[in-house]
Amino acid sequence: MAEAGTLQDAFLDELRDTYDAEKQLTKALAKMAKASSSPDLREAFETHLEETRGQIDRLDRVFESLDEKPRGKHCDGIAGIIEEGKSIMEEDFDEDTLDACLIAAGQRAEHYEMAAYGTLVAWARCMGHEEAADLLQQTLDEEKAADEKLTQLAESGINQQASDAMQGGDEEEEGEEEEEQQPASRSRGGRAASGAAVAKRSSR
Ligand SMILES: [Fe+2]
Repeated sequence: MAEAGTLQDAFLDELRDTYDAEKQLTKALAKMAKASSSPDLREAFETHLEETRGQIDRLDRVFESLDEKPRGKHCDGIAGIIEEGKSIMEEDFDEDTLDACLIAAGQRAEHYEMAAYGTLVAWARCMGHEEAADLLQQTLDEEKAADEKLTQLAESGINQQASDAMQGGDEEEEGEEEEEQQPASRSRGGRAASGAAVAKRSSR
């Protein structure tokens, strides 16, 4: 009978899975940045893309600290999340709604990574891999910050604009004048999505 795997084996397995997940995400984040209409959202994805490249380098150092060769193992979990994000980008959404959906997809990925790094940090500490634990904790902190940034973007205007775009769309079907009275509810947005909304929007 083969020898049972140890926590160290499971740890290396998770590290390889995460290494591959980060590589898949570099490609996905570039596409999500491109698909974003909000300049702030695009910048958030681009910033996190740069961070992700740093996270891959950091994982190289984690493997090194364990005297292991860095290598990835296909991560099915993140592949599924990326696949879902891709199908959202193929849908025919207005740009505000697509931005809201991109945030939703991005946060799914961040939470997946937070779960992975949370486990990796805990296991590394348990087994006394202090250097690895510190490096992994740095990445966990970055993932949490990226997730919070997406929440902040969603709540500071993007979700509301998507919701308002829906109301605007309904009214257009009934008549144009109603649209003129709508802007008061659009004042939370940070971006000029339509001419009617510009005047009411406070600059930040
Ligand atoms: Fe990451």
